[in-house]
Amino acid sequence: MSTQERDWYQRAGVRSGPRRQLTDELVTGRAFFPPALVPYLDHPLVTELGEAGRRELLARHLFQYLDFTAQFETRVVNRATDRIAGNRCGTDTDVAVRLDAYRIYCDEGYHSLYSLDVVQQVSRASGVPQLPYDFGPFLRRLDAVGTEALPYEPALAQLLQVVVFETLITAVLNDIPKDPDVLTVVRDIVRDHAKDEGWHHAFFSRFFRELWTRESAGSRGRIARCLPELIRCSLLPDLRPIRASLTAAGLAPSAVEDVVHDSYPPASVDQGIRRASRHAVRLFEEVGAMAVPGGAAAFEAAGLLP
Ligand SMILES: [Fe+2]
Ligand SMILES: [Fe+2]
Repeated sequence: MSTQERDWYQRAGVRSGPRRQLTDELVTGRAFFPPALVPYLDHPLVTELGEAGRRELLARHLFQYLDFTAQFETRVVNRATDRIAGNRCGTDTDVAVRLDAYRIYCDEGYHSLYSLDVVQQVSRASGVPQLPYDFGPFLRRLDAVGTEALPYEPALAQLLQVVVFETLITAVLNDIPKDPDVLTVVRDIVRDHAKDEGWHHAFFSRFFRELWTRESAGSRGRIARCLPELIRCSLLPDLRPIRASLTAAGLAPSAVEDVVHDSYPPASVDQGIRRASRHAVRLFEEVGAMAVPGGAAAFEAAGLLP
């Protein structure tokens, strides 16, 4: 039994973690989500909504993050992980790698489960209803990036989506567990999640290095030129649910547009994307993705280089 294998059975959240539950903590006034990670919260048109309105916006921001996670894990990460586990990557995959892929598949399913579980718990206790969320437009945009860059290799495009996403390190995963002002149940599930993602990150980095080694020069070029758009598409703030939440808070359509426009200036969006993708970009640089024709230019054009 490999060390990693033994570790998974003892340490994976789905194998050993408790169900995280909201206690009676809502009365303490702890935040649903860190205000610093919600760029529109201090906009003058939003502060006019008062404390109760802003509190509801924070709750819906949490729900939106968790809804997105629940959908992303099963519909994007596990779509590709199942290809690896089931030996449907287009080339023979080592059985040890396939077993790890099934472990990740279990992890991601469990991340979806507790994400939705916590939405339900917090929504019920706080009385803030969850708005309907449609993951479809995000998924279509993400798939379109792959279809355009790799029209004849849909399996490869799906694998790259996951390599990219699993090597990003977002501010949410990093900051929330350390933030004492956030609800414990939220900090707990994000910490649990980040722990599992640590070894997913290692798995997909290794997986990508091996994939890159066996691809032809032509294919490497297409991969390198496709990665920057996949990174941007994965990290661009999804403004649709934010608009819906601001509308539900009572803002008129023109005010919603003003808030969104002022709160997400392109320079700070780009900076956030650069920060979250620096490990992924370093990995791609190490394998030589910048050295293929058009590679460095594509990363540069996407604003990913410092
Ligand atoms: Fe996950
Ligand atoms: Fe993961």
